[in-house]
Amino acid sequence: MKRREFLSSIGVGAAFALTASCLGSCKKTDTPASVDFTIDLTNSAYTALKTNGGYIIKDSVVIAKTTAGAYAAATVICSHEGQQKIYYNKSVNQWNCSAHGAAFSMDGSGLNGNGKNGLTIYKTTLTGNSLRVYS
Ligand code: FES
Repeated sequence: MKRREFLSSIGVGAAFALTASCLGSCKKTDTPASVDFTIDLTNSAYTALKTNGGYIIKDSVVIAKTTAGAYAAATVICSHEGQQKIYYNKSVNQWNCSAHGAAFSMDGSGLNGNGKNGLTIYKTTLTGNSLRVYS
């Protein structure tokens, strides 16, 4: 059965309902307006943050220990199409998106077409083994 035949067979109302549900579920995810949490780096869940180039994802935030050994944080939600696929790319010291290749500098500036809208970056402060991530 072709798409047109299928839509005719289920009626206009059902076709609208299918379209409306897709519009709702396909909506971009918004980056949280405010972030403020602290993690304990001695917790085994954050072992990746003990190695330069490692990163973790917590509460929609990507937290990385850069190749230079500094902590950095950014939203996991890409500004291109809202997919939650931002990661820290240690080979180029950038935030990248695995969905369509958006690239962002560590300060959130877009580095290519898909990254042109920039990326939300959060602050980090290390006190002992406590790393605060905040906006
Ligand atoms: S959603 Fe990230 S590059 Fe498209």
